[in-house]
Amino acid sequence: MQTVAVTTPEQLEVALAIRFEVFVDEQGVDPAAERDELDPDPRTFHSLVVDDEGIPLATGRLLAPHTDVFHGEGAFGAMDPALPHIGRVAVRKVARNSGAGSALMLELEAQALARHGASGSVRVELSAQDQAMPFYEKLGYTIFGDAYMDEGISHHDAFKVVTEQ
Ligand SMILES: CC(C)(COP(=O)(O)OP(=O)(O)OC[C@H]1O[C@@H](n2cnc3c(N)ncnc32)[C@H](O)[C@@H]1OP(=O)(O)O)[C@@H](O)C(=O)NCCC(=O)NCCS
Repeated sequence: MQTVAVTTPEQLEVALAIRFEVFVDEQGVDPAAERDELDPDPRTFHSLVVDDEGIPLATGRLLAPHTDVFHGEGAFGAMDPALPHIGRVAVRKVARNSGAGSALMLELEAQALARHGASGSVRVELSAQDQAMPFYEKLGYTIFGDAYMDEGISHHDAFKVVTEQ
C-alpha cells in the first residue's frame, strides 16, 4: 500500500466516497454534516491510502490552523484553533487492521510538520471517537479534556507533538 496526495476533484470524490461508506453508512452520521466547505478549501490537505492495485482503502484530512474555528473538529472540544487538526480518518471495513490507518496518520503528520512546523516540530490535535482512542494512543497521541458528543458519538480531544526524525 501507499499514500497518495489528493490533488484533483476526482480524487476528492474518491476520498468522500470512503467517508460516506464509513461515517454515514456504517456509523450513522448525518450525510449533510459529512461534507463541508473545508473539503475543497485549498489549505486543506487530503490523503488517500491505496493498495498495490491502486484500490482506495483509506482517507483522512489535515486542516490548516485557523480554518475550523466554527466548523468540524474544532467546534465542540477544547482543541486550539491555532494548531493543525487531523480529521475524517476513515479506513474501509475490509481494509482494517492491516496498517492502512497507521500509514495514513504518518503521512498526515509528516504533512503537518512540513506545512505548519517550526524549529523541527509541530503539535497536531484531533477529535477521537472513544472506540478509536487506543488506535491513536498507539501512535503516540495523548488524550485530554472532557468527553463530548459529536454526531451522537462520544469523543475526546487528543494531541501529539510530531518532530523531525
Ligand atoms: C480507527 C481506524 C482508523 C484504525 O485503522 P486501521 O487501519 O484498522 O488501523 P491499523 O491497522 O493501522 O492499526 C494500528 C494499531 O491500532 C490498533 N487498533 C486499530 N483500531 C483499533 C481500535 N478501534 N481499538 C483498539 N485498537 C485498535 C491495531 O490493532 C494496531 O495495533 P498493533 O500495532 O498493536 O498491531 C479504523 O478502524 C476506522 O476507520 N474505523 C472506523 C472509522 C473511525 O473510527 N475513524 C476514526 C474516527 S476518530
